[in-house]
Amino acid sequence: MDFDILPARETVRPGRRDAILADPGFGVHFTDHMVTMRWTEGSGWHDARLEPYGSFTLDPATSVFHYGQELFEGMKAYRQDNGAIVLFRPEVNAARFNASARRMAMPEMPQEVFVRALELLVTQDRDWVPTTPGTSLYLRPFMIATQRSLGFSHPSTSYLFCVIASPAAAYFGGGATPRALTVWLSEDYSRAAPGGTGFAKVGGNYGGALAASRQATEQGCDQVVWLDSGERTWVEEMGGMNLFFVHAPQGARPRVMTPELTGTLLPGVTRDSLLKLAPTLGIDAGEGRISTAQWREQCASGELTETFACGTAAVMAPVGRVRGVSGGWTIGGGEPGPVTLRLREELLGIQYGLRPDPFSWVHKIC
Ligand code: COI
Repeated sequence: MDFDILPARETVRPGRRDAILADPGFGVHFTDHMVTMRWTEGSGWHDARLEPYGSFTLDPATSVFHYGQELFEGMKAYRQDNGAIVLFRPEVNAARFNASARRMAMPEMPQEVFVRALELLVTQDRDWVPTTPGTSLYLRPFMIATQRSLGFSHPSTSYLFCVIASPAAAYFGGGATPRALTVWLSEDYSRAAPGGTGFAKVGGNYGGALAASRQATEQGCDQVVWLDSGERTWVEEMGGMNLFFVHAPQGARPRVMTPELTGTLLPGVTRDSLLKLAPTLGIDAGEGRISTAQWREQCASGELTETFACGTAAVMAPVGRVRGVSGGWTIGGGEPGPVTLRLREELLGIQYGLRPDPFSWVHKIC
């Protein structure tokens, strides 16, 4: 696939860019360029270009507005200590993009084309990769259905792929040590059901979660925790992040467990990385299941000492307190725990080039 390179004639002034990079927030500022690519039935992927960041003009009858045929990915480019700019496991995001595409009856994209699109954008906008520790350039590849039709008898016959980039600070704010979150158990809403789209990274999963997120905020909580939709017993994930449970009572070898991929939760890249990384640090790791009652009881007995959420945007966020309609409880001392912080330090160390990369996860761009 050849990309046309159309650099922006006007870019954000360097002084303004530096001010943004000093305090980027999350998802509010965007770089000078984007990548776009079109797909049409019969022609496949074509019209690949790197072009100035800008608006799309779309007919009001464009099918994505009506039936939500859409998917996205979340990734980051990191500026390492030696100045290199790298991606983290982009091939895993490419594979998940294609898994989401299959579920949504959308076209898949060859891995090398997906990765090339990211490389081109990050190289072009490399001055937008922040330098402050903990910051990064968040990348948002996405695809939308563009057929002009209200018909619902078949998937769209045309699609637009796009990648945009946004300098990003820590998702939950805070400095080097993340603050512990308070989470809300959603006992009346469901995120995903068997056979649905829970494992795919699609906008509908997120849009449908907002009412529960609002409920969590109204209850003074930071995030919502989703339970299985059948028994409403088993903990699945947190809004946009996976969950890990740490068993590290004094004297015992630490163990981390994350809910197994039943098809209703997102197969996170950070989740997978931590499952592989933990054993190299002497921490046993595995998939399993835990009910809300077990979570509460094991915290009370001291068997379960920490809980954390993980995802690309959030990296790793400790959970200190759980609340729900029938009360709540504190996990450990309610503060970030040592196993969480050890894993976080190692993962960030690999991403920022401060630690060896035993799995060759880092993909150098420039
Ligand atoms: C990510 O972690 O990349 C996500 O897409 C989650 C989103 C809620 C920011």
